[in-house]
Amino acid sequence: MPGWAPSSVRRGGGGSRVEAPVTVRGYLLCVFAAFGGILFGYDSGYINGVLGMNYVKLEFGHPGSIDPSAYQGHLYATREKSLITSILSAGTFFGALFAGSLADWVGRRATIIAGCAVFSLGVVLQVAATTVALLVPGRLIAGIGVGFVSAIIILYMSEVAPKSVRGAIVSGYQFCITIGLLLAAVVDQSTSTRMDTTSYRIPMGLQWLWALILGVGLFLLPESPRWYVKKDRLEEAAKALATLRGQPADSPYIKDELAELVANYRHEAHMQTGWADCFRGGWKPSGNLRRVVLGMALQMMQQWTGVNFIFYYGTTFFTQVGIKNAFLISMITTAVNVGSTPISFWTIEKLGRRTLLIYGAIGMLVCEFIIAIVGTVAEGSQAAGYCLIIFTCIYIFFFASTWGPAAWVVIGEIFPLPIRAKGVALATASNWFWNFVIGFITPYMVDADYGNMRTKVFFVWGATCTLCVVFAWLLVPETKGLSLEQVDRMLEQTTPRNSSKWEPTFSYADEDAKTGPGRASGVEHLEHSHV
Ligand code: BGC
Repeated sequence: MPGWAPSSVRRGGGGSRVEAPVTVRGYLLCVFAAFGGILFGYDSGYINGVLGMNYVKLEFGHPGSIDPSAYQGHLYATREKSLITSILSAGTFFGALFAGSLADWVGRRATIIAGCAVFSLGVVLQVAATTVALLVPGRLIAGIGVGFVSAIIILYMSEVAPKSVRGAIVSGYQFCITIGLLLAAVVDQSTSTRMDTTSYRIPMGLQWLWALILGVGLFLLPESPRWYVKKDRLEEAAKALATLRGQPADSPYIKDELAELVANYRHEAHMQTGWADCFRGGWKPSGNLRRVVLGMALQMMQQWTGVNFIFYYGTTFFTQVGIKNAFLISMITTAVNVGSTPISFWTIEKLGRRTLLIYGAIGMLVCEFIIAIVGTVAEGSQAAGYCLIIFTCIYIFFFASTWGPAAWVVIGEIFPLPIRAKGVALATASNWFWNFVIGFITPYMVDADYGNMRTKVFFVWGATCTLCVVFAWLLVPETKGLSLEQVDRMLEQTTPRNSSKWEPTFSYADEDAKTGPGRASGVEHLEHSHV
């Protein structure tokens, strides 16, 4: 059933190599890994609700607290609360970096499955915990697993997806993150009044189900053909491609796609693949350093849109500025997040990544400045309250349909194969690092006994979103409709601002065919082998 999915293939001489038509089965195979987003979203979301539960305060807290949020005088020390929350980001940060090496060594799929196993171990410790001393290592180990999963899923999905729907497929990952966040809110809410260990053991134990589904499901899927090419295992690469594209391994589609992967890899194979190589190549758009900085900065800027201020601190912030039903409003923002993300499945291919990033940031900054200005001039009024709620929802709509997915899509596309695993890992680690930093500092900006900025904090997010516009306009190239190999060539030949107009007039395989080495020595023999 070709043609049913959003498609964005660019024309041009080299683009004439036609990719196999995208079938529903092929699409579903590629999109399955997106399920890992549930792990990401659920894990970052569930702990807030759990820490707010009365039974958890009794079990994990200490008596004698006079804080109004204590339950029967029981509460955790501030440093414990912050440690329990933030240790996950520390784990994910290191997990993502380590996974960058592992994914080159044992494969993308195997690294994600290993991530699920590590994560499961962390979950066992968390469920068993009745003290902070066991909960913290549990969160740390689970975090390492989430780090593996969150970095390598982007890599895997970008590498297995057909180019015409790659953006839509990777956006599915963001969609799952939003579902994970929503699920966490719903599960927390439904167990929050239980006065026994099931109040927290149910939300914690459920994490394991997501890891199980992902790990077992991936076990049945093929490894990334690009990893096989990197390892010079061409027959397996052909088999994996054939399964993913729903074509026989000796079909011309598979041979052509594989020839291009092999030729491109040979073209780049002189590059080394160590960590230090990620920082070579200088500031030209095709240099490794420039690409790594772009990926890391993109994920940093995604965090500086301020989105997690709403998801991590929304409930307390809405209460602080006098909004009743703060919990309900938080649920609504989470639901808007889920509901708006699928729009990107289509727009990311039709309008492109760069356009979404530029206009999405403009949409967000307008909402943020409106909230800040109205909240400052009419502080405490009903109008300011409505304004905050409505524009927060519109702001989340813009995030979810643009920066949420596009930041992940772009980091899967901009790195050349020799450093792709490490590049994606560094960018993902940057996401977690800034996630942690911003999560850590925002309470100091808004809490009454510190910065007490109230809605003025949106001036900060408005300003950082303005930087996001400038950043996207100056530095983010348009990658839609190109194979990952064509993206390499595009970065060598044009600038980010002109990238949307670039058309592939070249293919590595054609060039190799002219000059000799690639097809003949690499792929041609597969015609005679049993793949
Ligand atoms: C971000 C997360 C955020 C989530 C919200 C993701 O793309 O990286 O930090 O919580 O979107 O949907």
